[in-house]
Amino acid sequence: MRIVSVVGARPQFIKAAPVCRALRAAGHDEVLVHSGQHFDHAMSQVFFDELGIPAPDHNLGVAGGSHGAMTGQMLELLERLFVEVAPDTVLVYGDTNTTLAAGLAAAKIHIPVAHVEAGLRSFNRAMPEEINRVLTDHLSELLFCPTEIAVANLAAEGITDGVHQVGDVMLDAARHHAEHADPAKAAARYGLTPGGYYLATVHRAATADDPVALAGVVEAFASLDLPVLWPVHPRTRKALESGGLASRDAVGSGADAAGSSALRLVEPLSYVETNALLRGAAALLTDSGGMQKEAYFFAVPCVTLREETEWVETVEAGWNRLAGTDPARIAEAVSAVRSGEPPSERPAFYGDGHAAEEIARVLG
Ligand code: UD1
Repeated sequence: MRIVSVVGARPQFIKAAPVCRALRAAGHDEVLVHSGQHFDHAMSQVFFDELGIPAPDHNLGVAGGSHGAMTGQMLELLERLFVEVAPDTVLVYGDTNTTLAAGLAAAKIHIPVAHVEAGLRSFNRAMPEEINRVLTDHLSELLFCPTEIAVANLAAEGITDGVHQVGDVMLDAARHHAEHADPAKAAARYGLTPGGYYLATVHRAATADDPVALAGVVEAFASLDLPVLWPVHPRTRKALESGGLASRDAVGSGADAAGSSALRLVEPLSYVETNALLRGAAALLTDSGGMQKEAYFFAVPCVTLREETEWVETVEAGWNRLAGTDPARIAEAVSAVRSGEPPSERPAFYGDGHAAEEIARVLG
């Protein structure tokens, strides 16, 4: 079967790594397309190198601009490419502008769409990702769900055909690439020791592009009892600089920012290094979707800097706390993590680490 897989943003490279491997092992003819959405070396090429993802057959070079401009340019270029390559299926991942553009371009010319990470919902339509994932699910013929809750979300919207609960490909990636890296070694590179720091990431539009929210997060981080190691996403770096919250020099040098010796701002890190640092962290502080689960995989408590999450099972199981961006609430959630015992159970919500093989099998 000829499959065009479309990726473009950092989390998609991670999800695609196990799937590319499984598709090729199963004898599928895969054509890999990079939309160009993420283009910095540290946001893109690093992951191809580290995770052994084959070089993209096509790179569309579409990056930046408004949502409409980015999605529109991708739509036009992807349609042309799909007509030329004539795949049996177009495979898309997650919830980015790249996901929606590829799904829409394929569905309109009657090429079946398969969606990896289908059925996730935050029920917050102010998030661009929520719009992207709802629309992509409704365009897809094959819907690969990571969890039982994702299957139920689709059923609630009347989608039951073509739905497969396969587990989470991010668990496959974690098992394959992240379990063996040494947390102590990774922490030592930043002068830290396991259990002696928090790891933080911030990139959502609702946090990074709202000066009050971003200032709240910075204030909270600076007030904590342990240093906060913060690999800074380019969107957030721009916002921190323009809001006067961190100087250009602070980001990348590991120097102090926001007047606090507790905050260590560094450039975005590779997948293996991020996960090694996560495994050594006292807690993760994040507005990322995927990292909430990575924390769960590695039994690291998570404080989510949002009011809702797609991964509600991590909250219900007691491993994740929703704290928004208010400094007092963040500090309170972190202190609850520090003072309490971690939950005794960590159910296998995300499958057995073989989701990618199952996807390759279902594709035929
Ligand atoms: C996108 C996804 C989000 C995903 C995230 C992972 C959408 C709507 N959002 O958000 O779901 O969780 O990726 O990181 O698709 N930039 C650079 N260099 C890069 C990449 C981006 O400078 O390598 C800049 C862009 O030009 C833009 C900003 O960062 O100014 C934001 O990038 P964009 O791709 O629009 O959204 P993300 O915040 O990365």
